[in-house]
Amino acid sequence: EWAEATTARQVVLASPRSFCAGVERAISTVEQALDRHGPPVYVRKQIVHNAHVIADLQRRGAVFVDELTEIPDGALTVLSAHGVAPAVRDAAAERGLPVIDATCPLVTKVHSEARRFVGRGNTVLLIGHAGHEETEGTLGEAPGRIALVESVRDAERIEVADPDRVSYLVQTTLAVDEVAGVLDVLRRRFPALTGPSSDDICYATTNRQAALREVAAVADVVLVLGSENSSNSRRLVEVTERGGTPAYLVDDVDSVDLRWLAGVRTIGVTAGASAPPRLVDQTVAALTGLGADSVREHTTRTEDVHFTLPKEIRTS
Ligand code: F3S
Repeated sequence: EWAEATTARQVVLASPRSFCAGVERAISTVEQALDRHGPPVYVRKQIVHNAHVIADLQRRGAVFVDELTEIPDGALTVLSAHGVAPAVRDAAAERGLPVIDATCPLVTKVHSEARRFVGRGNTVLLIGHAGHEETEGTLGEAPGRIALVESVRDAERIEVADPDRVSYLVQTTLAVDEVAGVLDVLRRRFPALTGPSSDDICYATTNRQAALREVAAVADVVLVLGSENSSNSRRLVEVTERGGTPAYLVDDVDSVDLRWLAGVRTIGVTAGASAPPRLVDQTVAALTGLGADSVREHTTRTEDVHFTLPKEIRTS
């Protein structure tokens, strides 16, 4: 059926793709907690934004909740990779919940930058998307002192108490090109603007976008494995579309609509930082089994980043 629907003959895999070090650490944290303490292990919010990861861990006994109030007294609690506002940590401590924090160290770094800038008396402009758990956590570091800037339009309009005391921060999973545009406006409006010493957009986000941009340049269509609520996965779709190549976000190969592939010769494939590698393997197997006769990988960079597990479950 697939073979009839498409004349595609080539699959090009973007590399790096799929799991980043922060996601691997967060998933291992829940797995280790389950192994050592047995189910149930409560997790506040989705540990990482991927439907398959969540379903796998649920099968093993993880219970995902939106708020701490849904967690029974004394139950082992894991905080997700996206980080939390200090108020959440305080509420957990007040209740005496045993907590393991799976916040990605690169998100924790943004939180400490926020505290540093606010401590200097600056207003912080956080470039990010409203409603995402990461931005909610970072904004919570200093309510009222950190404002969200979502777009160039916001950057043009935002008012601050003292234009000479302004800093910016960036959500770790944004599109590199988009942030550059927002920063241009902020720098023009606030020449005294200060920022983090190195980029807040993390290595994994940056590398996946860079690899995909090159793949998209030779592809007729791009498939991005990832879930709808995954920020970095959605950015991969947008970056591709801005470059003029159609791109689709799919949870797995079963969600691929054959009409997208009709008449295309080269299919680019990547996966967001929270999407398991097996989803890519399954997609490639389906594409080769049903018509593609070459699969190659386009590697722009190799990654060698690993984070140690939270101390509560570190084995040593
Ligand atoms: Fe961390 Fe970046 Fe992954 S912030 S969780 S390494 S996408």
